[in-house]
Amino acid sequence: MIDFNIAPYSGNEIEYMMQAVTNKKICGDGPFTKKCHQWFEERFGAQKVLLTTSGTTALEMATILCGLKEGDEVILPSYTFSSTATSIVLTGAKLVFVDIRPDTMNIDETKIEAAITDKTRAIMVVHYAGVACEMDTIMDIARRHNLKVIEDAAQGVMSTYKGRYLGTIGDFGCYSFHETKNYSMGEGGALVINHPEYNERAEILREKGTNRAKFFRGQVDKYTWVDYGSSYLPSDLNAAYLYAQLEKADEINENRLKSWNHYNEAFKNLQEAGKLELPTIPEECVHNAHMYYIKLKDLKQRTEFLSYMRENGVYTVFHYIPLHSSTAGMRFGTFRGEDKYTTLESERLARLPMYYGLSEKDLKYVIKKVLEFFDE
Ligand SMILES: Cc1ncc(COP(=O)(O)O)c(C=O)c1O
Repeated sequence: MIDFNIAPYSGNEIEYMMQAVTNKKICGDGPFTKKCHQWFEERFGAQKVLLTTSGTTALEMATILCGLKEGDEVILPSYTFSSTATSIVLTGAKLVFVDIRPDTMNIDETKIEAAITDKTRAIMVVHYAGVACEMDTIMDIARRHNLKVIEDAAQGVMSTYKGRYLGTIGDFGCYSFHETKNYSMGEGGALVINHPEYNERAEILREKGTNRAKFFRGQVDKYTWVDYGSSYLPSDLNAAYLYAQLEKADEINENRLKSWNHYNEAFKNLQEAGKLELPTIPEECVHNAHMYYIKLKDLKQRTEFLSYMRENGVYTVFHYIPLHSSTAGMRFGTFRGEDKYTTLESERLARLPMYYGLSEKDLKYVIKKVLEFFDE
């Protein structure tokens, strides 16, 4: 069976974790966590980056820092992972789902303005498959309506929009380092803070409501409980694992892109023959090959495709049952405007195996089976 995903492993992870053990510093904010923070801040030109225990908790920190509360509304796509929504529900704010664009599967920026009311406080965008949303338009809408923008860039680490790294464009950016992501620490994430006025509150929020971060920097002589907080910082063991991959970030990225391009070339003829649809990468976006998906005719053909691939030893999966049709989505939110593409397009999409180190042999086998399915 060809796996759908294999967690990235680049070679130095164990050695760095051993170093963390030898350092006698395995709790949070140790040397490897600091190295990771510095890596992101320098490479992405980010104002401040804090590792978290997951992409989900990075999103939770962002919604709390935005000051969202009961009675507020947040606009988001329905075609996304549950965490995008649960981080909003946590604050008591209401979910307002809007439609996606069929080409990128991202929130349709032209549908946002009509969904804004006097209760709207924020827009949560999701850079699906590591391909950027139309951020200039979205930032302009946010500025005109005085809304915060949170980027769910769980899948978008290393991708850019007009040369800017995803996560650094809105007010906050959130990354995931779950084992299914391009860079992993098992479970983990990071919060990107793009305005310095949030830095201190974020540190307190992440450290159980205390000013311990200030204490470690020698800015106060003892630390104390100062505000609401939780424990959002990961162990330095996990940060050590991640740091090994950040050092090889370009190599991992190029390897994934090579597989992505190989798939894309192989299926061009099928697209031209109108047999399937391939992902669209807008001109201003550089993506990170987080995912390779194809779109089939409809739900029936996709079901047949997934079964065919599994019967032939290839693990392929569908993605996202739209949140607005889920039990929790109906309870916590509403769809505003027409669901022209969200449901329809989600039923057509199938993801192919994609991971760092996917072998040429396996890749060719997957391609062969896809072509066979379409009688090519
Ligand atoms: C779009 C999106 N948002 C949020 C998350 C949550 O990240 P994590 O699994 O690290 O909590 C994921 C990944 O699973 C995701 O794909």
